[in-house]
Amino acid sequence: MQDLKNDGSAPKAWSGRFSEPVAELVQRYTASIHFDTRLAEFDIQGSLAHATMLHAIGILSRDDLDSIEKGLQTIREEIRSGQFQWSLELEDVHLNIEKRLTALVGDAGKRLHTARSRNDQVATDIRLFLRHEIDGIIESIKALQSSILDLAEQHADTVMPGFTHLQVAQPVSFGHHLMAYFEMLRRDGARMKDCRGRLNMLPLGAAALAGSSYPINRESVADMLGFDGVCENSLDAVSDRDFAIEFCACAALVMTHLSRFSEELILWMNPGFGFIDLADRFCTGSSIMPQKKNPDVPELVRGKTGRVNGHLVALLTLMKSQPLAYNKDNQEDKEPLFDAVDTVSASLRIYAEMIPGIKVDKDAMRKAASRGYATATDLADYLVKKGLPFRDAHEAVAKAVRYCEGRGCDLGELSMAELGEFSPLISEDVREVLTLEGSLMSRNHIGGTAPAQVRAAILRARSSLA
Ligand code: ARG
Repeated sequence: MQDLKNDGSAPKAWSGRFSEPVAELVQRYTASIHFDTRLAEFDIQGSLAHATMLHAIGILSRDDLDSIEKGLQTIREEIRSGQFQWSLELEDVHLNIEKRLTALVGDAGKRLHTARSRNDQVATDIRLFLRHEIDGIIESIKALQSSILDLAEQHADTVMPGFTHLQVAQPVSFGHHLMAYFEMLRRDGARMKDCRGRLNMLPLGAAALAGSSYPINRESVADMLGFDGVCENSLDAVSDRDFAIEFCACAALVMTHLSRFSEELILWMNPGFGFIDLADRFCTGSSIMPQKKNPDVPELVRGKTGRVNGHLVALLTLMKSQPLAYNKDNQEDKEPLFDAVDTVSASLRIYAEMIPGIKVDKDAMRKAASRGYATATDLADYLVKKGLPFRDAHEAVAKAVRYCEGRGCDLGELSMAELGEFSPLISEDVREVLTLEGSLMSRNHIGGTAPAQVRAAILRARSSLA
């Protein structure tokens, strides 16, 4: 942020009613210019559409419209090149731009605010801003999904232990495990799209709260700005921030998914697991312990999830007691929203870059899957298929597992004679059942972990992304 001018000389846009200038402290406390300059591009877009409509209904002359268009173009360039002088006295992005426009084009600039209030103006700006950001986030979700697909494809046949209660449960394909995150992100993308659909309605025209006494054409402004329609109720239009809350809820879920993924990457990278290694460029070392390679990126993603959850709660709390219609409280919507946007966008982008650099230690995954009696359920199912009721099969296999524990071996390492002790129904064909591959391949239905099913799921997923 550049220096904010504050020489105390300029009268405020609303100072006509006041007998003394606003206190310096109050000026600083109530201004939003420290953060809302981020809305400038959208404020200009909104103003251009509004001015075009005012001309179409005969309120602005052709000359005034031309001047406003030229002036706003100059301002846009000044802002983009960092030349624009933002002033604290002018409170917010809207009044800064309006004042500069008037300095550039005279009375035409003063006419722009006809039939409009900052209340419907700011509501329009945030919707335009968020719509733009959501489009970028949807693209980033897709980019991450596609890097997950690439890794999953390489590992459809890689066996790892699947866990419940963080204890070895049943063998799964590593590709299948990765595809679980694809599914979470698929829902995230759909939720973002859904949120975008509901926010894409135009508040402008609600003016301060009750609508405007000019014969405005809101539908034409909505068309010009790419909105699907207009907000139906003027009071709701200026006070509603549901879309910001919904967005934060969607963003909190994206972060929750990335945080769970992070937790797994961190565990898998721990030497106790040793399943994966992250590329060096995504890790950091320790200034004291030379042996360390720390998974800082996943840890930070996990940590940043907390702030997005916090922003969701902040916005819900911001809105919960506000009477209709606009209240200055609403100015507090921006910083949480901006930070949620930035955090979720950056986290998605860094994840999409990090995934392709993951190195997988297939042997370590295999060993871990072989150690935890991961095929015990398969043995029970085998006995059921030979006619034993499931509960009895469960009991027989539990005894076999206890026996193995005493011997320090896996079920697959028992001799036929030993296995026969637990059930006379066990014969040679049990060998295939006790292998990790046999276990994987037997779960051969849509949604199951059989490598053929995983490859089919990846194919379907790929075409859904196209
Ligand atoms: N800076 C204000 C905001 O962010 C703009 C709207 C101000 N409107 C008002 N009546 N004070 O909400």
